[in-house]
Amino acid sequence: MSINIKNNVFWIGKIDWELRKFHGDEYSTHRGSTYNSYLIKEDKTALIDTVWAPFSKEFVSNLAKEIDLDKIDFIIANHAEIDHSGALPELMRHIPDTPIYCTANGVKSFKGHFHKDWNFNIIKTGDRLSLGKKELIFVEAPMLHWPDSMFCYLTEDNILFSNDAFGQHYASEYMFNDLVDQAELFNECIKYYANILTPFSPLVIKKIKEVLAFNLPLDIICTSHGVIWREKPEQIVQKYMDWADSYRENQITILYDTMWDGTRVMAEQIAGGIKKGDPKVKVKLFNLAKTDKNDVITEVFKSKAILVGSPTINKGILVSVAGILEVLKGLKFKNKSASAFGCYGWSGESIKIISTMLKELGFDVADEGLKAMWNPDNKSIDSCFEFGKQFALNTLH
Ligand code: FEO
Repeated sequence: MSINIKNNVFWIGKIDWELRKFHGDEYSTHRGSTYNSYLIKEDKTALIDTVWAPFSKEFVSNLAKEIDLDKIDFIIANHAEIDHSGALPELMRHIPDTPIYCTANGVKSFKGHFHKDWNFNIIKTGDRLSLGKKELIFVEAPMLHWPDSMFCYLTEDNILFSNDAFGQHYASEYMFNDLVDQAELFNECIKYYANILTPFSPLVIKKIKEVLAFNLPLDIICTSHGVIWREKPEQIVQKYMDWADSYRENQITILYDTMWDGTRVMAEQIAGGIKKGDPKVKVKLFNLAKTDKNDVITEVFKSKAILVGSPTINKGILVSVAGILEVLKGLKFKNKSASAFGCYGWSGESIKIISTMLKELGFDVADEGLKAMWNPDNKSIDSCFEFGKQFALNTLH
């Protein structure tokens, strides 16, 4: 199956309806995903990226129905991660001498993955490749998402092939942004940004400004995952600029785990206090043992502040809480406040452990946190409510 995008440009990828975990077990894909490959049939023919390895044979077989494989003049490999390059070994078995255009880091990654000495051609930002009347212009985009990543732009048709950037893990029979449910689309976009691109936010802003400085008209953005942005493609560019700039909504998120319900009771009382302190703030609660971690991270990304709660166990904290703090360590969220809370029976180290970790992760820790002995009594419950109220007043105003 192929889909015509514009003139001689075609989508020739794979819609993966079944995918529920990506990057091993690291990223949840509730709505599946797609691996987008593109075929440009001008005087010269270029193939941009392939698909994930399990779909290699299916991909090459489909491609061969679309074009005589020997007629592919250039392979453009925007990114070496195997969700885009996984079908290369199968393809290169058929056309072993076809030149592959990629960055210098791409060559290292391809050789590292596949141990093949294919006909690599190294590109740099600003390099051009003629397809006849139209050209591809290359832009290196290191760390969006790997050191080897790059974009390319097709002149005349004004299409940016952005690989991972501006993508979403979103399977749909409709491969264009104007045809899908907008709430679903943007939920997947912000989740993708929060969980994958947040650590690289300074590079996102720099790269977008660099691409805009070329002053190239932009009609379509063809990403490597999810839908193609053909209606107002600048809207996702603007979203990325917003998300990369220490993004916050008027939201406080409470993350906790609980053993015998005491820390849950604390969480709910704190939430009530926050609403008292600022009735307009959105408050969301998540039991970390029962919630998908990528969905939790997306809510943290949207928040002005978070509260993290764990009872004390063996002088430590519950594993689900430790796990989310470990994930947050790599994401380097900025401009967010935080505090800790939790029940304890006799030693009560949890809030100190959580507070220390939150500080190390770059959160602005607002206070010393709140602990309650055994299950909270009426006095403790009042303290939780007041603690939430003060937290809202201190962190939102
Ligand atoms: Fe979709 Fe970084 O690969």
